[in-house]
Amino acid sequence: MGLPKDLIRDGFNMSENGGSKMKTSLGPKDIMFPTPVFIVGTYCEDGRANAMNVAWGGICSSNPPCIAISVRRQRCTHVNITYRKAFTISIPSEMYVKEADYFGMMSGNQVDKFKATGLTPVKSEKVDAPYIEEFPMSFQCKVIDSLEIGEHTQFIGEIMDIKVDDEMLNMDGTPDFCAIKPLTLDAASFRYYGVGNLIEKAFSAGKTIIDNK
Ligand SMILES: Cc1cc2nc3c(=O)[nH]c(=O)nc-3n(C[C@H](O)[C@H](O)[C@H](O)COP(=O)(O)O)c2cc1C
Repeated sequence: MGLPKDLIRDGFNMSENGGSKMKTSLGPKDIMFPTPVFIVGTYCEDGRANAMNVAWGGICSSNPPCIAISVRRQRCTHVNITYRKAFTISIPSEMYVKEADYFGMMSGNQVDKFKATGLTPVKSEKVDAPYIEEFPMSFQCKVIDSLEIGEHTQFIGEIMDIKVDDEMLNMDGTPDFCAIKPLTLDAASFRYYGVGNLIEKAFSAGKTIIDNK
């Protein structure tokens, strides 16, 4: 099977750079493996709850704990966040893949997405935005900053609270990743995946290399 014409195979300087594998340059692209599937909850100006699927996001600070999400200017969600200075992120488990995808296909400017999906918006205690009751985990975020990048605005939300279904907690009170079964996205093929098996413990697997030095 031939490679697309715009891909550049990169073998000419292998010895100079010390590498020996053939690599293909994909050029500058908005691809990352994996991206989260965040369902961002907001209120419209008239008080109607809305939700949108966001892949471009992640934790961006530990203290204060913050999440950054990038939202295009034409989204209903963009207007809502700008107006209310708040959003939530609800984490869909695998069983809600249809609803999660729907939230990314339709705009709150045209439809009531909560009516269409039958999911329940719940008013947050800490911020002026709704979270989704049926999803096992949600974050309540207050906007503390924003940055214009191309067609997107990156909103930085300080996490004011995280809610997790009781039955999704480990014995030590941490959220149970395997029980929650969060969806992830392959942003190259636009396919949803579940999470895989435990491979190793973080801040631990690397110890063997430290110890061998
Ligand atoms: C998997 C997936 C990921 C998406 N990620 C983003 C994103 O990170 N930023 C964005 O602006 N739009 C993203 N979208 C598109 C919006 O979710 C979509 O345009 C949605 O209809 C906007 O809803 P709203 O107008 O009600 O805010 C994504 C859509 C899908 C299906």
